[in-house]
Amino acid sequence: MTGLHFHPLRVRELRADTDDALVLSFEVPDDLRATFRFQPGQYLTLRRAAGAAGGAAGGDLRRSYSICAAAGEGLRVGVRRVDGGVFSNWLHQELKAGDTLEVMEPQGRFGAAVAQATAQTAAQTAPPRHLLCVAGGSGITPVLSIVKSVLAGEPGSRVTLLYGNRSAGSTMFKEELEDLKNRYLTRLALHPVFSREQVDSPLNSGRLDREKIERFAPIIGIETVDQAFVCGPHALNDEVEAALLAAGLAPERIHVERFGVPPSAADATLHAPREGDATTARITVVRDGLTREIGFQPGDESILAAASRAGMDVPFSCKSGVCATCRAKLLQGEVRMDRNFALEKADLEAGFILTCQAHPLTEQVVVSFDHR
Ligand SMILES: Cc1cc2nc3c(=O)[nH]c(=O)nc-3n(C[C@H](O)[C@H](O)[C@H](O)COP(=O)(O)OP(=O)(O)OC[C@H]3O[C@@H](n4cnc5c(N)ncnc54)[C@H](O)[C@@H]3O)c2cc1C
Ligand code: FES
Repeated sequence: MTGLHFHPLRVRELRADTDDALVLSFEVPDDLRATFRFQPGQYLTLRRAAGAAGGAAGGDLRRSYSICAAAGEGLRVGVRRVDGGVFSNWLHQELKAGDTLEVMEPQGRFGAAVAQATAQTAAQTAPPRHLLCVAGGSGITPVLSIVKSVLAGEPGSRVTLLYGNRSAGSTMFKEELEDLKNRYLTRLALHPVFSREQVDSPLNSGRLDREKIERFAPIIGIETVDQAFVCGPHALNDEVEAALLAAGLAPERIHVERFGVPPSAADATLHAPREGDATTARITVVRDGLTREIGFQPGDESILAAASRAGMDVPFSCKSGVCATCRAKLLQGEVRMDRNFALEKADLEAGFILTCQAHPLTEQVVVSFDHR
């Protein structure tokens, strides 16, 4: 069993989608086809190597981008340019078709419930489903992948998509969604909501917040929703989740993908030692089928940091507890995490941890990056 690694992929095309968003598609050579097979809602981690054109002088730079294609379509991601953002501006300004990027294999479990459902439906053992998708801004990318995969793969299932944007002009994948609506007239209900553009229906104006979800509830038929997928800015994620819980949707049916840490979570002392931490520990790390023992020292920010300091090539992207690229399974011992915006209850119960946030509580800990 091997874990995550970077692979060089050629950029096939960079296509402008809106004024500040582009779609970046990759060529996947035959020998990497199985490696880059993806499930709806998964993401890629891209790496700009130190010394690349416009690259960082000291160390590589990594960011995650959700795949916006349906399972089986060509590999592509949608990237919105963030003001002052290092990586998104580099992709927008410097990258060209024909360039090669370092890309990690697809990962993430946001759409796992869809993948399972689709497989069961194909086997005709699962009933048709009603999925509710709520996206804000660039949060549409993993949601689009889920929407397209379900509509194409589950002939009896239907999707309601609430999609918040500033205006029609800033809406990513606008034409593709219009095409989907026309193609799946009875199975896709699309409700755009604009915060800075007046439209005839008050329901379609304003922010996609808790109150808006409550007002949409009878139109959606919220009691018929089997699974909900939410991805957008922090406030949208939190408010929509709260509204769905209040409407009676079970927590395990609500799936939230976060693109970053809420500003309120900034904390300079985040990784500081706490009472109960093991002051020193032996960490056994399983990676690519090999086992290596490393020491955890008082200055180490996390188990991931200790493994990196020991020279191990371990997978990571955000180091903030958001993306789960550093996910590993705890096979022995106990750890605590500084924060977790990525793992769901079922992941935690199955023993998964975010190594970028994990501190040993016991003197012996065994973690495996090969268990995904
Ligand atoms: C699992 C996952 C999937 C993601 N999928 C996508 C995707 O499909 N499309 C996409 O465009 N992005 C996506 N992101 C966000 C992406 O990884 C980067 O964080 C984003 O492109 C900003 O990187 P940067 O280097 O340009 O900005 P940075 O240099 O890292 O940040 C610059 C400033 O912008 C703020 N900032 C960072 N990200 C955002 C943001 N998303 N919105 C507003 N302000 C921000 C930072 O707080 C900072 O102040 C995803 C993130 C995760 C964890
Ligand atoms: S590297 Fe992103 S959660 Fe740990």
